[in-house]
Amino acid sequence: MALLFISENDDPSVWKAELAKAIPELEVRVWPECGDADDIEYALAWNPPPGLLASFPNLRFIQALGMGIDPFLTDPKLPKSVPLARLVDPDMVRQMSEFVVHAVLRFHRQSTLYADHQKKRLWRQEAIPDTSGATVGIMGLGMLGADAAAKLEAIGFRVRGWSLRPHEMQNIENFHGRGGFEDFISGVQFLVCLLPLNESTADIINKDTLALLPQGAYVINAARGGHVVEDDLLGAINSGHIAGAALDVFRTEPLPADHPFWPHPNIHVTPHIAALTNPITAARLVAENIQRAAAGQPPDNLVDIRRGY
Ligand code: GLV
Repeated sequence: MALLFISENDDPSVWKAELAKAIPELEVRVWPECGDADDIEYALAWNPPPGLLASFPNLRFIQALGMGIDPFLTDPKLPKSVPLARLVDPDMVRQMSEFVVHAVLRFHRQSTLYADHQKKRLWRQEAIPDTSGATVGIMGLGMLGADAAAKLEAIGFRVRGWSLRPHEMQNIENFHGRGGFEDFISGVQFLVCLLPLNESTADIINKDTLALLPQGAYVINAARGGHVVEDDLLGAINSGHIAGAALDVFRTEPLPADHPFWPHPNIHVTPHIAALTNPITAARLVAENIQRAAAGQPPDNLVDIRRGY
């Protein structure tokens, strides 16, 4: 059995070493050196070139190298009969919650204002904002959203969540579906997007939805660039309606050097680092899934292609 590793972002040598510890007999090939296409039974992939996965007749399992599977959904030739699994690594969930909590707290505790005061050598104590009166709204209540919600709630924020389908979480006000969106977003001071990107969630942060946020709200996007209509967000920030944004993902990555987000004083740009796949923690989970597939069992975190996540 051979596994094909397909990624331009991830280091194949670390993955090979980690997978060999768990399944010594697994032959790992690294794309584009595929060898005989008939040998490939497993693919461990991120952003595979469209059509590539369809060229392996004996492929029996595809493991995504990330939590989001949108790069697979856009492949028109994706072999839909081959099970595809997302990578759900508790270490990545922890990384993502750190990013979200940090982004919320940075805005909430007025870090930009104090950085500005420091430049002016100005010693001035501002009132500390009331945490229990501040509402964080999390879009997407899967593993990522649920963890971030619980951590922000533990700090003392009021937390509400919105998802396409109903999700119940203790101490979190839950909203769902298009019908629940307006009630969810009105009154949210920190809007956090952790949704999967698919047909129902693309462009969800746009001028109409931003207009529903109260004056002075902040937007944090650590999901996908395709969730945000960038010109609409820029317009809402420049008009003063939205106070600022922390953006880790963009419609074009790397973010082009002339993009207006780079120099913007109220926009924090990071280069898609909210959560990075860590082979040291993830290889064991991937190996377990390969063993499941080899035994004819369904993998963990199987994606429902029609649902889009
Ligand atoms: C990264 O963006 C991922 O989907 O894991």
